[in-house]
Amino acid sequence: MKTFLPLLMLMLGSVLLLSPPVYAETVTCLVCHSAMKAKIKTEKGYFIQLHIDEDRFSKSVHGIACTECHMTYKENPHETPTGEVPKAITDLASSISSKAEIDRIAYAACSECHSEIYKEVAESVHGINVMVKKQKDGALCLDCHGSAHYIMPGVSQESLVNRWKIVETCGRCHGNEAMDKKYNLEPQLMERYYDSFHGKKYRLGHPDVPTCVDCHGSHAIKKWDDPASPVSWGRRVATCGRCHPGANEKFVTAITHKPIGKGNPIPYYAEKMLIVLTVSVFIFIVAHVTLDAFSEIRDRVLRKKKEEPHDK
Ligand code: HEC
Ligand code: HEC
Ligand code: HEC
Ligand code: HEC
Ligand code: HEC
Ligand code: HEC
Ligand code: HEC
Repeated sequence: MKTFLPLLMLMLGSVLLLSPPVYAETVTCLVCHSAMKAKIKTEKGYFIQLHIDEDRFSKSVHGIACTECHMTYKENPHETPTGEVPKAITDLASSISSKAEIDRIAYAACSECHSEIYKEVAESVHGINVMVKKQKDGALCLDCHGSAHYIMPGVSQESLVNRWKIVETCGRCHGNEAMDKKYNLEPQLMERYYDSFHGKKYRLGHPDVPTCVDCHGSHAIKKWDDPASPVSWGRRVATCGRCHPGANEKFVTAITHKPIGKGNPIPYYAEKMLIVLTVSVFIFIVAHVTLDAFSEIRDRVLRKKKEEPHDK
């Protein structure tokens, strides 16, 4: 590495002279980071992917310089100059320390341009998990949007939050048994979604059935019994009513992630009715066939008896 440094500096120097400033900084970083392919393990035991795919980076939504997020990497890339970072960012950075292990400042820098969304996430059940409970299980930006370097528009096929990917994205955590246990969440929630009226049609490509975010929101997600949650009892009629005009208190109990019989009477009785119906139809058919066969046998026996004298 040491022997290459003078050569590298020369390359960087010429690149810098030829380029406009924002681009120059990015190119400076990319000289190394697009060439390095290694994943390194830090002293604290987490992995860092050093490679940045230049092509994907340039196609992502953020046409911004590396240093707009990696604020402490200015000038000499890996010195850590301080003092230039706004206090709001350093405060936020320390509040997400359980989650962001590589460059907290970069993770907090999203708030410079997405302050409203950052606030919503901070106050959500996911943000509280990280910032208040100091756990690393809750979702922050990159858990749903993927690497900060390759974020695509929400409508793009490559986006992790587009309609056809978002269920899978939530399911990366909400399909996890250990997590359900730790937070006392309803187990098998993903299976129940896929088995619901909505989930079945979603899998068939129905464009209007709700995904997780249509019922729970995306950034300001709350515990379901928090009055601010769109699926709390107070707001559920309005939430279902967006797509089911005329939805009432009874109708809204028709969808739940809870197992049948536990707090969801409608599917419970619907299922019981179905069982009763199936069994009675079955009994009816069996009885019908048996009686039919019986009458046939009886007829034949009687006929035989009647016919007997003529035979002899
Ligand atoms: C001279 C080559 C080189 C240049 C130029 C360079 N990096 Fe790095 N970068 C590395 C190496 C090597 C590592 C791995 C370990 C280390 O030294 O920190 C790394 C690691 C990183 C990491 C992971 C966290 C860390 O500090 O280990 C970040 C983030 C990073 N670089 C950002 C940048 C940014 C932003 C720029 C441009 C301002 C940049 N780098 C320019 C070589 C470079
Ligand atoms: C939109 C903000 C943003 C931009 C622009 C950005 N980064 Fe990052 N970068 C991040 C965040 C956030 C992380 C993750 C920090 C963490 O988890 O602690 C990260 C992580 C990294 C890492 C560690 C890789 C890993 O394993 O996650 C490297 C290396 C890196 N960035 C280099 C760069 C370079 C080089 C550029 C410019 C070509 C760049 N970044 C542009 C936000 C950004
Ligand atoms: C310097 C300002 C700036 C910073 C810092 C920044 N963003 Fe953005 N971001 C933007 C702008 C501007 C857009 C809109 C781009 C467009 O629509 O073409 C955007 C768009 C997005 C989108 C929307 C994609 C869509 O659906 O259209 C996401 C998601 C996003 N940013 C996440 C992040 C995350 C996560 C971070 C921190 C790692 C971050 N941004 C940091 C300016 C920024
Ligand atoms: C729990 C998953 C999740 C987390 C965490 C999350 N997002 Fe999003 N984000 C989404 C979804 C889903 C969408 C698609 C649009 C929608 O349904 O609201 C979205 C859309 C966006 C958009 C574009 C649309 C808009 O509302 O402007 C931006 C920008 C954005 N997110 C930034 C962020 C930032 C910054 C963070 C971290 C503070 C973050 N997101 C955390 C799921 C998430
Ligand atoms: C049709 C609306 C709707 C959709 C779609 C939906 N949910 Fe729910 N969700 C609810 C309702 C209503 C509750 C309240 C508790 C219950 O009845 O299950 C809830 C509760 C929850 C809970 C708390 C469960 C507990 O432990 O009590 C989680 C976590 C959750 N949903 C995640 C998701 C995820 C992930 C998806 C996507 C796979 C999703 N939801 C899709 C309506 C919905
Ligand atoms: C990185 C993992 C992760 C991802 C991704 C994630 N969640 Fe969560 N979610 C959690 C954890 C952990 C909790 C429990 C937090 C706590 O109680 O401290 C939670 C809690 C929830 C709750 C509240 C449950 C309750 O108690 O009522 C809902 C609703 C929820 N998530 C919905 C979603 C939706 C919708 C998505 C996708 C847009 C999503 N989550 C993505 C980890 C995740
Ligand atoms: C984003 C729109 C949307 C939301 C929100 C929504 N649904 Fe639906 N729902 C649909 C669509 C679309 C269908 C399928 C209609 C069809 O093709 O038969 C459907 C079907 C159903 C069905 C099957 C029987 C019927 O009436 O078609 C029930 C029951 C149902 N939804 C209940 C609910 C409940 C309860 C909620 C709120 C917790 C809810 N839905 C929220 C769009 C939605």
